[in-house]
Amino acid sequence: MKVLVTGGLGFIGSHTCVELLNSGYEVVIVDNLSNSSIDVLEKIEEITSKRPKFYDIDVCDKEEVKKVFRVNKIDAVIHFAGYKAVGESVREPLKYYRNNLDSTLTLLEVMKKENCHNFVFSSSATVYGNPKELPIKEDFPLSTTNPYGTTKLMIERILADLSKADKEMSIIVLRYFNPIGAHKSGLLGENPRGIPNNLMPYIVRVATKELEMLSVFGNDYDTHDGTGVRDYIHVVDLAKGHIKALEKCVRFKGIEYYNLGTGTGYSVLDLVKTFEEVNNVKVPYKIVDRRPGDIDACYADPGKAYEEIGFKAELGIEDMCRESYNYILKNKSD
Ligand SMILES: NC(=O)c1ccc[n+]([C@@H]2O[C@H](COP(=O)([O-])OP(=O)(O)OC[C@H]3O[C@@H](n4cnc5c(N)ncnc54)[C@H](O)[C@@H]3O)[C@@H](O)[C@H]2O)c1
Repeated sequence: MKVLVTGGLGFIGSHTCVELLNSGYEVVIVDNLSNSSIDVLEKIEEITSKRPKFYDIDVCDKEEVKKVFRVNKIDAVIHFAGYKAVGESVREPLKYYRNNLDSTLTLLEVMKKENCHNFVFSSSATVYGNPKELPIKEDFPLSTTNPYGTTKLMIERILADLSKADKEMSIIVLRYFNPIGAHKSGLLGENPRGIPNNLMPYIVRVATKELEMLSVFGNDYDTHDGTGVRDYIHVVDLAKGHIKALEKCVRFKGIEYYNLGTGTGYSVLDLVKTFEEVNNVKVPYKIVDRRPGDIDACYADPGKAYEEIGFKAELGIEDMCRESYNYILKNKSD
């Protein structure tokens, strides 16, 4: 079976390509390298001893996407390509609406023309807004607090409408919680350009002394230590969730939604302390004001994904902390 992976050189996409190749799928990657590097292709090959076909094109470019479908007989699409920085989406909303919506619409239009009906979409727990109850179930009300989240919710609505109109389509929407960690080889991981937006890449840069101190945004949340609680999931577990989703995708028609999380919430300080312990390093931090829009706690009910597609996260927060650091140490000395 041949799978087109858009954004396949990115953080989650690259780990998913490894799992797909290891499970015997043929992989075709489309990525415009706007937030990734071509070296990742070599790393995927180094880990799997297989080299996926790669196209350096923009998924919004319909003619180019059509060519990819014509040359390769694509059976299913996993769509990771998109922009993901919440803060930037507030400053540059049009850039986010254009890229995230246009790439998805282009893909879906080409898929329809080329008779490809299997689509797995990267959504996010951000579509649950500020949840009234925890843990979060898939049927909770949806809302968003920033343009990035709104692009995800708009795409979910588009997919729901498409599924009603086109009974041939099989669509799986995956709502990721907080992916961190790296491949255990140290060859793949997350190394954002510039100052990181997310907690783990920031912790890592403080540990390597590239940044002086971690700012912890608020310690007066309604959580066990006052700092924000999130459901961190190892990126390799998350990648494996895509294999389960794909297996479901090809055996049903319609649309389904799954949370991909562990079901356990950890606070910012839990993560910092675990990181310090497993890596034997110091992560100096200071408490600063809350960030507007941040919520107290957010963690998944992973039950539906377990019952319906057999997905269960296996790696713990220690693995996530160890492998995130290992990846950066290995890639600093390159
Ligand atoms: N990382 C997270 O915390 C998180 C959480 C929830 C959902 N998601 C979603 O998962 C997906 C993957 O996230 P990631 O962390 O791997 O991000 P990433 O930025 O590492 O990967 C995205 C990849 O898509 C590529 N890309 C972007 N726009 C493109 C376009 N128009 N055409 C071709 N390639 C394009 C980028 O070059 C990059 O390689 C995104 O859709 C993101 O919104 C991520």
